Amino acid sequence: MLYSSLFLLAVQSGLTVKGAKASSSPSHEKRALDTSAIATKYFGNDAPWYKDRIAYFECSDSQITDVYYYRWKIFRAHQRDLGAKGYISTEFLDDVSWQLEPWASLNDATGFHVAEGRWNRDRRFKDDYLTHMLTGGDDRHFTDYIQDSVWGSYLVDNDVPSATKYLDQMKTLYNQWVDHFDSSKGLYWVEPLLDATEYTISSIDASGGKDGFTGGDAFRPSVNSYMYANARALAKLAGLVGQTSVTTDYNSRAAAIKSNVQKSLWNSTLSHFIDRYKVSNDYVKYWEPIRGRELVGILPWTFDLPDNSSEYASSWKHLLNPNELAGAKGLRTVEPSYQYYMKQYRYDAASGRRECQWNGPAWPFQITQALLGMSNLLDHYSQNVVTNSDYIKLLKQYTQIHYNGASLNLQEDYDPDNGGAIVGLARSPHYFHSGYIDLIMTGLVGIRPRADDFLEINPLITSDIKYFRAEEVPYHGTNIVVQWDADGSRYNQGAGLRVERDGVVIATSPTLKRLVIPFQKKAIIGITRPIAKSIQLQTTTTYPYGNASSGTNIDNVHDAIDGRVWFFPELANGWNSDVNSATTQWYTVTFESATQISRAEIAFFDNGNDFKAPTAYSVQVLSNGKWVDVAGQKKDAVVANGITNVQFTATSIAQVRLAITQPAGKRTRLVEVKYF
Ligand SMILES: *[C@@H]1O[C@H](CO)[C@@H](O)[C@H](O)[C@H]1NC(C)=O
Ligand SMILES: *[C@@H]1O[C@H](CO)[C@@H](O)[C@H](O)[C@H]1NC(C)=O
Ligand SMILES: *[C@@H]1O[C@H](CO)[C@@H](O)[C@H](O)[C@H]1NC(C)=O
Repeated sequence: MLYSSLFLLAVQSGLTVKGAKASSSPSHEKRALDTSAIATKYFGNDAPWYKDRIAYFECSDSQITDVYYYRWKIFRAHQRDLGAKGYISTEFLDDVSWQLEPWASLNDATGFHVAEGRWNRDRRFKDDYLTHMLTGGDDRHFTDYIQDSVWGSYLVDNDVPSATKYLDQMKTLYNQWVDHFDSSKGLYWVEPLLDATEYTISSIDASGGKDGFTGGDAFRPSVNSYMYANARALAKLAGLVGQTSVTTDYNSRAAAIKSNVQKSLWNSTLSHFIDRYKVSNDYVKYWEPIRGRELVGILPWTFDLPDNSSEYASSWKHLLNPNELAGAKGLRTVEPSYQYYMKQYRYDAASGRRECQWNGPAWPFQITQALLGMSNLLDHYSQNVVTNSDYIKLLKQYTQIHYNGASLNLQEDYDPDNGGAIVGLARSPHYFHSGYIDLIMTGLVGIRPRADDFLEINPLITSDIKYFRAEEVPYHGTNIVVQWDADGSRYNQGAGLRVERDGVVIATSPTLKRLVIPFQKKAIIGITRPIAKSIQLQTTTTYPYGNASSGTNIDNVHDAIDGRVWFFPELANGWNSDVNSATTQWYTVTFESATQISRAEIAFFDNGNDFKAPTAYSVQVLSNGKWVDVAGQKKDAVVANGITNVQFTATSIAQVRLAITQPAGKRTRLVEVKYF
């Protein structure tokens, strides 16, 4: 789209605004998407988890649609139930040695997790997660932009108490980064590894080209953009609760970082933001610029840091140039002209496979940040370097990366030239250190969330996208629909753009343009938080603990109460009964003391092969030393690869058993059993 799209077009008399005055009668408001059928198509028996939670979306590009729903699967699979503390999002499905124990959280991925989660109508997930991160979960292991994430989440739900509850903790966290601040330069520095990007130019060159896993402390565009965004977010969050002096303080901190990034990290020779060294050693000197362009140099736009200048905007041409950052299959993290481009330094000891590096490979992590930056550039900068067609092209390229042959399985990083997954370790399937739902909502669909009483829509599409419809999208306490139908043939509701609020049309436009629609917020409904009492985060025999009829290895047993639910076959999850085990099996949970429970959620895996869902099950309790069926059971039929619900008469017991009948010759995988 051209620069003319930058003019804000407040919706005026010609267009219908506000639900009550809608001209079209409610009888015409038929739902264009069959959300039930969509949930079943994409999520099978696990559809009930998604049905009333996710925002729905489809577009004329079926791969984008398919990957959109796959990304909700990733989101769901990475929800770890901590029991009383509620849910967090994980980066790796299963445990890794560098996670924060006992939760398994990792703060480098938080920004993506919250940005995806803000489009879930069940606010519990991002809300519990932010509570966890802001009350100790954010250990500053890595750089992050959590304050900015809180603000971004507020822009969608407008929940002031939730956004400001941990303001003091957010200020404390911000101020702790003073240990990475060089006051003589007014900039933050970080070791690339702790920026979650090992083997960058700075760390490799600081080792004399010999390694680069650690070391290479540098003033980077990333950490400074994050801190700029965090300062701005803190200023705005403080404004919500009338802390004027805090707002002034953080606004001036943000302004100082912005000015220093532009003054010191912009390299006019390379026309790109690049690192300068913090470290001085035999190979590199303090304050020297690194010697090449990296994708990280685009991050200032992800957080709206740079001024609106054609000089800065010229940086984006490097993302379009196939000899520079534009790999044929994904954006490169470093350009091929770099001496150690794609040189492999580190291998996984167990498998011999290549380990994570940032000297060229394409990372969904930074591709997401680049696309967010590009959408900011297209939406509200004046420039003539990139167009919507570049955005859609890169979005399609990124979409493609999610495929492993015909199946969807997002891994850590990719070869930017041939698109093959590089790392592919046991820990890698369905990796969650990137975003997609947020890109679709804020970019392609073009919802630009705002704090005030307006809904702003500016779809970043080209004529390639013949139609799209986003439905049941949460916004300021309501559910909105944004629909584009180039010729009206898809939805039979007229050609063009159409916006609905809670089922009522509030704006239409026959042509593609920015809409800014007056939008009175609605009170948001409270969050429901059932607490599973049987969760055990650690592999121990402290209470509550599991025990089973076979497969009694402690890790195997623990997997069924570890708070993790996914049904992906690529990575086993759950208690597995033994090969050749008897048809009658059981799994027992022992609580520390008598505990009242009245229902269970049971997740059985079924691969149609060696693992089959049971043919029968029952919840049992001890009575005079014998296991008997608990009274009043209302059992769902067994659900394979979904949740089987059972309710029973509330009972207070120290031990509860799930008795299972497995088909002869088959095994059971109990992904999870939760008692409430
Ligand atoms: C930009 O970086 C290159 C590579 O390190 C360096 O040679 C050049 O002097 C820098 N340009 C400016 C204007 O500092
Ligand atoms: C950039 O400049 C244009 C035109 O002057 C203006 O409309 C837009 O808001 C500016 N964007 C930013 C980020 O300053
Ligand atoms: C687990 O069950 C077995 C078999 O009933 C029993 O021998 C064992 O003591 C139990 N272990 C624990 C930790 O309860």
